[in-house]
Amino acid sequence: MRTHHCNELRESHIDSESTLVGWVQSTRDHGGVIFIDLRDREGLTQVVFRPEEDSEVAKLSHTLREEDVLSITGKVSKRLEGTANDKLGTGQIEIVASELKILNKAEVLPFRLDKEMSNEDLRMKYRYLDLRRPRMSRNLKLRHRASKATRDFLDEGGFLEIETPILSKSTPEGARDFLVPSRLNGGKFYALPQAPQQYKQLLMVAGVEKYFQIARCFRDEDLRADRQPEFTQIDIEASFVDREDIIKTTEGLLARVFKETLDKEIPTSFQRMTWHEAMDKYGSDKPDLRFGMEITDLADVFATSGFKVFSGALESGGVVKAINAKGFACITTGQINNLTEIAKLHGAKGLAFIKVEGGEWKSPIVKFFSDEEKAALTEKMGMEEGDLILFGAGDWETSSEVLGRVRLACANYLNLFEGNDSLEFLWVTDFPLLAFSPEENRWVAVHHPFTRPKADDLELLKSGEFKNVRAEAYDVVLNGHELGGGSIRIHESDLQATMFDALGISKEEQTEMFSHILDAFKFGAPPHGGIALGLDRLVMLLAGETSIREVIAFPKNNRGADLMSQSPAEVEFKQLRDLYLKSTARRKEEAIVESTNEDLKPTEA
Ligand code: AMO
Ligand code: AMP
Repeated sequence: MRTHHCNELRESHIDSESTLVGWVQSTRDHGGVIFIDLRDREGLTQVVFRPEEDSEVAKLSHTLREEDVLSITGKVSKRLEGTANDKLGTGQIEIVASELKILNKAEVLPFRLDKEMSNEDLRMKYRYLDLRRPRMSRNLKLRHRASKATRDFLDEGGFLEIETPILSKSTPEGARDFLVPSRLNGGKFYALPQAPQQYKQLLMVAGVEKYFQIARCFRDEDLRADRQPEFTQIDIEASFVDREDIIKTTEGLLARVFKETLDKEIPTSFQRMTWHEAMDKYGSDKPDLRFGMEITDLADVFATSGFKVFSGALESGGVVKAINAKGFACITTGQINNLTEIAKLHGAKGLAFIKVEGGEWKSPIVKFFSDEEKAALTEKMGMEEGDLILFGAGDWETSSEVLGRVRLACANYLNLFEGNDSLEFLWVTDFPLLAFSPEENRWVAVHHPFTRPKADDLELLKSGEFKNVRAEAYDVVLNGHELGGGSIRIHESDLQATMFDALGISKEEQTEMFSHILDAFKFGAPPHGGIALGLDRLVMLLAGETSIREVIAFPKNNRGADLMSQSPAEVEFKQLRDLYLKSTARRKEEAIVESTNEDLKPTEA
């Protein structure tokens, strides 16, 4: 229907005829002469309706409203002296309309498209309008470019794109599954995949050697800015590889994506840090390296301190650590209280601090410190006028995590991220294989049960010293966000069974849930490994957004609902009956869904 799009006409087109289609972004009436900005996906073009050109068209132009859909034909003309707009690609020209077709009228929109809007519920209800905004249209294009660059890069590297089932079996990735009842197998359920983990490993057994998929994953977890119940992974697996091969492929992939989306060169060899070092220095397994404020160990300063909170922690095998928030002695009481809340939320009993102000240490705890302790502390922490020192004392993991959270909160208060456009990529390696879960009273996999223990730690696993077993696992981190994670896998049936044993999965359960994997590994499984990158998080960071909802066309809100289509929704009684389900619920509080299959116990929803 068009000869050009709305960001195409330039001075070189002056005097030619052009037909544009699009939406009315705005209309202005200058003494009977109507000006409109016509918008399509690519941009804006100014159109002018002069009464003397064609009176019918001019008359019709007075009826135009925002978001009407038009086709316009006219002559490309130079804008009058002094009315050019240098910020706009088409800012030197305008179209003098000789034909106007109104393809569709628009009612008044529920919100304006030319202003940012904070009411996210309203944006989501009318997402198809929200997506008309240039920022959202740019995000959709960016996502397309990122996917395209991914496909091109992996295709060139010999990876095959293979789809795996959505109706699948529960995989133990660590989150809750979404279940789908089976009509043909009454009383049985599919699970939506949390990730294609087992399928991609089975593809390695199948001799595929190099696999990838831009895969939709489903996890029924509590939602946050960078978590959705359905999200997308760039999922990769390869045979006959070691950690370095996967790291190199991932770095190459990210470099290609940054080049082709933002035209940015990034380093092709990222910094590395072991999990232990990341936790110890930054109190996080995904440290944000855009600023320092590293955590310092103060065991040698306070070993014999009169301040019992510190010496006591050390005596019982714990640590005393601190960060120096430089220049933050001006912290308000409210802010200190907030930081203390954060510390308590993550398991600390309190948050001791020292403000260095007016040449004095202002703190409720310094009265317990000896002069030697003060001197050693000053030196270790590099303390200067204006500094704020924050302490954590207790067991290593809790104190590190507490200070890690406090470190990020201080950086926010100090505006350390504002105008900071650095990209700090990092590999975190050598994660623990297992962690003890007090709630479940058993050891659980830190990544997933298919992760390979480090060769040096195999004996520890076999002898039950689970705490110190490290995994052949790696995460890639960008500016404090976990972009992706992966590992070299177990490919031997007996080692896989040892791992299941460690997780407290009985032999019967192993056969019931994992016989396909355990069997497959008996028939010549190649050594293999892989990684999955969160595409939504990657595009969010490319776009400079702070929520993955901004880079997903139709996201769910933080209650897991789609406000536009109003899902999830109730279903017809007949549909439930066909699925052998009975719902007694009309409201969430009453929701007990029972299977009508007598053999199955009712499950609480
Ligand atoms: P993992 O569980 O670490 O690994 O997931 C990989 C990456 O997926 C992204 N991600 C999410 N993004 C948005 N919303 C969510 N709810 C969400 N959960 C995860 C993150 C994360 O780093 N099968 C393994 C990978 C492997 O071992 O190869 C896996 O799924 O960016
Ligand atoms: P208290 O022993 O409760 O009088 O604590 C004295 C100071 O130490 C207070 O500022 C507490 O917030 C702080 N504090 C107590 N326990 C810890 C801890 N485990 N780590 C860091 N600071 C603590």
